Amino acid sequence: HHISLIGVPTDIGAGARGASMGPEALRVAGIRSVLESHGLDVLDRGNLSGPPNPWLAPAEGYRHLAEVVEWNQTLHEAVRAELAQARMPIVLGGDHCLGLGSISAVARHCRETGKKLRVLWLDAHADFNTAALTPSGNIHGMPVALLCGHGPAPLTGIGGTTPAIDAGVVRQIGIRSVDAGEKRLVHEAGLEVFDMRYIDEMGMRHTMEQALMGMDHNTHLHVSFDVDFLDPEIAPGVGTTVPGGPTYREAQLCMEMIADTGRLASLDVMELNPALDVRNRTAELAVDLIESLFGKSTLMRKTAPRA
Ligand code: ARG
Ligand code: MN
Ligand code: MN
Ligand code: MN
Repeated sequence: HHISLIGVPTDIGAGARGASMGPEALRVAGIRSVLESHGLDVLDRGNLSGPPNPWLAPAEGYRHLAEVVEWNQTLHEAVRAELAQARMPIVLGGDHCLGLGSISAVARHCRETGKKLRVLWLDAHADFNTAALTPSGNIHGMPVALLCGHGPAPLTGIGGTTPAIDAGVVRQIGIRSVDAGEKRLVHEAGLEVFDMRYIDEMGMRHTMEQALMGMDHNTHLHVSFDVDFLDPEIAPGVGTTVPGGPTYREAQLCMEMIADTGRLASLDVMELNPALDVRNRTAELAVDLIESLFGKSTLMRKTAPRA
């Protein structure tokens, strides 16, 4: 695989400042050399640029709407350009509002090439709010709803078609914080959510088997990894921690089972906030998990990868 790292240094959709420093923290933690150590060809495209964060209060349910549109349009074009060159984009966020630009580009690429899309959304949050439902106005709590067509045209229309994706392509894993109104919309949309209770009861292995089921040789697998997916005891460097997330071992298994499919074709690494981290340990953990996502394993694998 030919990988392109795309830094998107903004916290425009978040409720805390600092995720704008995420791309550099991931570089400092060695993301490029770790991928290269697995024989991958990696190009670091550097950082995209966009409007600064004016740190304003929400207006009509959205905070920084125009700026969020601008960053996501730029990211959409950048991801689209990498996919058009048959490269695998890894988006280094930045807050999770950027899932909109990234996944809308992936979905567009799938439509144009006849690929079947599967999106794994690893997160503590469903990110399925709308202006009417959001308790914060922060657009990083809305990207999945926006991708599914819930929201204003400047956001839902990025990438040409609205909705950008069908809710049926999404599998959410690790969810443990959903706002009251958001909960109803998640249910109405029929979003498939493997929440922490599901993982507690069924285990990560069964959860991932379910989440990866039905994929085939023609599937483009996109992983949107919000670092707050992880338990805050091991990953403090995020703006919206929620207790009770996957352990180190559960997260490793999750990544290894994704790697085994051989279908990973694009990745987002979002919400890392170095201003809240402890000696870059959350960035280092994220890079360690990404290494597993790209095939690090303790032993030579004796069994064939999962179908
Ligand atoms: N549900 C909360 C909100 O909408 C928190 C969202 C957190 N999202 C994230 N990508 N960290 O404000
Ligand atoms: Mn490829
Ligand atoms: Mn989150
Ligand atoms: Mn998120």
